[in-house]
Amino acid sequence: MTSRPGDRNVRIYEVGPRDGLQNEATPIRTEDKLRYIELLADAGLRQIEATSFVSPRAIPQLADADELLAALPRREGVRYPVLVPNERGLARAEAAGVNAIAVFTAATDAFTSHNIGMTVAESLAAFAPVLARAGELGWWRRAYVSTAFGCPYTGRVAPQTAVDVARRLLDLGVEEICFGDTIGVGVPNQVGDLVNLAQGAGIRVSRQAFHFHDTRGTALANVAAGLAAGVRTFDSSAGGTGGCPYAPGAAGNLATEDLVYFLDASGWEHGVSLDGVLTAARFIAAKLGKPLTTKVGQAGGWDPATGAATGRGA
Ligand code: COA
Ligand code: ZN
Repeated sequence: MTSRPGDRNVRIYEVGPRDGLQNEATPIRTEDKLRYIELLADAGLRQIEATSFVSPRAIPQLADADELLAALPRREGVRYPVLVPNERGLARAEAAGVNAIAVFTAATDAFTSHNIGMTVAESLAAFAPVLARAGELGWWRRAYVSTAFGCPYTGRVAPQTAVDVARRLLDLGVEEICFGDTIGVGVPNQVGDLVNLAQGAGIRVSRQAFHFHDTRGTALANVAAGLAAGVRTFDSSAGGTGGCPYAPGAAGNLATEDLVYFLDASGWEHGVSLDGVLTAARFIAAKLGKPLTTKVGQAGGWDPATGAATGRGA
């Protein structure tokens, strides 16, 4: 079966510093990004996607990636993957002392064309040498399949289409496939179907991750469906910031604080402190000059012993 009884450990993959910030117009200073990443690590997050080595023209907010990585204190047991679109990005990542990368394509040509100026097939050809080199260097490698449930340009995506792309990425040597619901249209039964179809194609649940956007309020329900199907890695962004600049109307990522509350209350173990995440979420919201609008960001957590709200801060 998909998961062992007693297997109650979930990995939260934090995307706030990368996916969260990439679509924000307010420029954030490098030192504030560093502080945000430190607060996330303090909260117990062990996978923190730090930035992108992409064209600074495509994503101006992350143009300081080289500087950021040079100044980032590495912590034992914490992985700081960076997004890499091509060999140029790989060279920058190598110079920055990175040891974990994520490449990113999608289920549809229309989306990849807008996002990285390539068809899906072209993107796979571009990633092949990048992933091979990263493998030689012993780096951890993840691949995103965006628009896994629907595309802002072409509509519905058949799960088999997303699985076909994922299978080809696995063949290029990645350790983890992350299916992204870029525009937040997926629902739980589709998640279960995708997980099972991927497993049938030889992509074990331990190699699958999911990246949900809460655009239509289905993100946590989708996490529950992923958990039921045996998936144990989920992406989220502290403060719920983010989205893709090439997916018009895409709302924020699933918020880490909402995910942590849900997992805690459901008895899943993950090693992340809700108070710690709320501290990071409040910090970045203040730097962005925005109120914290996530559910748990507003309501706080809840102590079942006393019935009192927790994590409200001072
Ligand atoms: N790092 C820094 N600069 C890069 C780069 C990299 N990894 N790759 C390309 N560039 C530069 C080129 O030098 C060129 O600069 P110039 O115009 O000053 O000469 C410019 O970017 C365009 O490069 P080109 O090779 O012609 O590619 P392109 O214009 O087709 O862009 C990508 C392709 C992939 C580089 C670009 O679309 C990109 O960075 N996209 C990232 C999108 C993203 O991060 N989306 C969010 C994730 S969901
Ligand atoms: Zn996202």
